[in-house]
Amino acid sequence: MAAAAKTRRARPAEARPQQSPRYLSGFGNEFATEALEGALPVGRNSPQRCAYGLYAEQLSSTAFTALRGANRRTWTYRIRPSAMHEPFKRIADAAMVGRADGAEVSPAQTRWSPLPLPKKATDFVSGLFTMAHAGDAVSLSGCAIHMYAANRSMKDRFFYDADGELLIVPQLGRLHLFTEMGQLMVEPQEIAVIPRGVRFRVELPDLRDEGGTLEGVRGYICENYGASFRLPDLGPIGSNGLVNPRDFLAPVAWYEDLAGSFELVAKFQGRMWAAKIGHSPLDVVAWHGNSTPYKYDLRRFNTIGSISYDHPDPSIFLVLQSQSAVLGVDAIDFVIFPPRWLAGEDTFRPPWFHRNIASEFMGLVHGEYDAKTGGFVPGGASLHSCMTGHGPDQGTFAKASAIDTLVPAKVGDTMAFMFETPAMIVPTRQALELPTLQREYWKCWQGLERNFDPRRR
Ligand SMILES: [Fe+2]
Repeated sequence: MAAAAKTRRARPAEARPQQSPRYLSGFGNEFATEALEGALPVGRNSPQRCAYGLYAEQLSSTAFTALRGANRRTWTYRIRPSAMHEPFKRIADAAMVGRADGAEVSPAQTRWSPLPLPKKATDFVSGLFTMAHAGDAVSLSGCAIHMYAANRSMKDRFFYDADGELLIVPQLGRLHLFTEMGQLMVEPQEIAVIPRGVRFRVELPDLRDEGGTLEGVRGYICENYGASFRLPDLGPIGSNGLVNPRDFLAPVAWYEDLAGSFELVAKFQGRMWAAKIGHSPLDVVAWHGNSTPYKYDLRRFNTIGSISYDHPDPSIFLVLQSQSAVLGVDAIDFVIFPPRWLAGEDTFRPPWFHRNIASEFMGLVHGEYDAKTGGFVPGGASLHSCMTGHGPDQGTFAKASAIDTLVPAKVGDTMAFMFETPAMIVPTRQALELPTLQREYWKCWQGLERNFDPRRR
């Protein structure tokens, strides 16, 4: 867009951009935060006249009638209502593919090397690359799986996604997220979640241009079309463990009072749209509610495992779930494979050979994944679909079959994750045509030896 001179209005000292954002602790709490004292109304949501001349506006993330425990909404007190912008016009989707594009689905095991960093100037939004779909935004069910690779901070433009909630998993470089509810700084091995519709922009503080050392940043996104992510119930585990709610961090209120020539980009029904807007939409001076962006440090995950024999199903590594209408069956599970100690009697340690009704899209943020001795590297991805057999490769199987399983060992240098869904994950054409597709991935199982001997128990 054509850059126009921006008018920067005077801001109170406490409303200046935070280099180290401050946070509120807890998952889904009823937060209340104000950047100017007295900006939040007391005892009501929509007073006749708001303090400081602000406008009151509600953002509803669930149906008004959703059960209290699931109901999410936030009241914002902002300089201008969100309706103030020019009409939306279609813009290029680039590599964001909004719907399944007819690529033929294969039952093959599929794996990719890391997505290359862009050579041309690319910000977070223009750097979205859709890998796969599972469901669609029309029926508000399932998800899309994207990667992003960017080398520019977003300048003079803002983004929101009406199709889904964004679960962002940085793999290379930090993201500084400036949102309507405030700021989040997110680094690899942390995640950020941005509710459907919340406007934001992304700055990249680790770029060489910005004083850092990186040429670009990269990561993964699960765009959740369905029910907002929640924390899993713990059942017999008890009241603590896996993710602990207090480790989830929401931003404190922060705003910018900027007038100028900006662009508001929207993802709506699988397409990209843009509208001119004469001010920054990040102008929420105060807010209260439980629909807010948040972050979580995956290294705080309290990993639970067996202390006798075998290891439990990978649902024991569940971080966040989007529930479906079927009790006990999630539409999306976000699962991690974090550092952990392993010791057990007569137990094969790595993830076992298996076939699932679910489809599994995996990524690796850091280190090495314990089911593969090579080929699955940070920034890469794999897809194992419904009933596609997979498991440890030949090298991992040989090693794990020979070790003393009673000697504790730490899987220490790793952070892998999985987006798992009962819907079929259909890769996009562009994902299947990537030069980073590993066409010989299948060979990692071909060296497994025939050990069967009917004369030897
Ligand atoms: Fe699997």
